[in-house]
Amino acid sequence: MKDFVLVPTLQDLDPDSIDLVRHAERALPTSHAPYSKFHVGAALLLDNGVIVTGTNQENAAYPSGMCAERVALFTLASQYPGQVIKKMAVVALDKNTPEPSPELAPATCCGGCRQVMLEFEDRQGKPFEVVMQTEDRQWVKAPSARSLLPFCFTSSTLGAAKIN
Ligand code: THU
Repeated sequence: MKDFVLVPTLQDLDPDSIDLVRHAERALPTSHAPYSKFHVGAALLLDNGVIVTGTNQENAAYPSGMCAERVALFTLASQYPGQVIKKMAVVALDKNTPEPSPELAPATCCGGCRQVMLEFEDRQGKPFEVVMQTEDRQWVKAPSARSLLPFCFTSSTLGAAKIN
């Protein structure tokens, strides 16, 4: 955990991270989450300064939906092929209460998204930082996708399996 930055409030993070969190937050109205009422926004800052966002998109056939992080990543791959991600931010709004809090809700990337993030990182050959709010409402900046998924399964695992 030594390379993780953990701070009590968003304002304690670096200006680029705060700005990216605000972009993820501004994307939230495009979230389609009528089933969970848990609205998630993700924003990617690219090396060239462009910001790509994504929000969770649910479906009545529950497994057919998609997390915000993967919507952002797949949008990047299809619309900005070859571009390098510098940083990702993830935020959420929990509308499960009758009067939803205006505050952001804690949201850390699910395991499936971490797996996809890892492959994007491997493909670009450069780590990207991940900013999100922990369960106890601190903000964490992880140095890379890989740091969020120890002992991971990657394309090189598959390669090794093919050789043997
Ligand atoms: N969700 C995300 O968008 N990202 C995550 O990393 C975790 C979960 C979404 C999926 C679903 O639409 C809702 O949050 C509740 O699980």
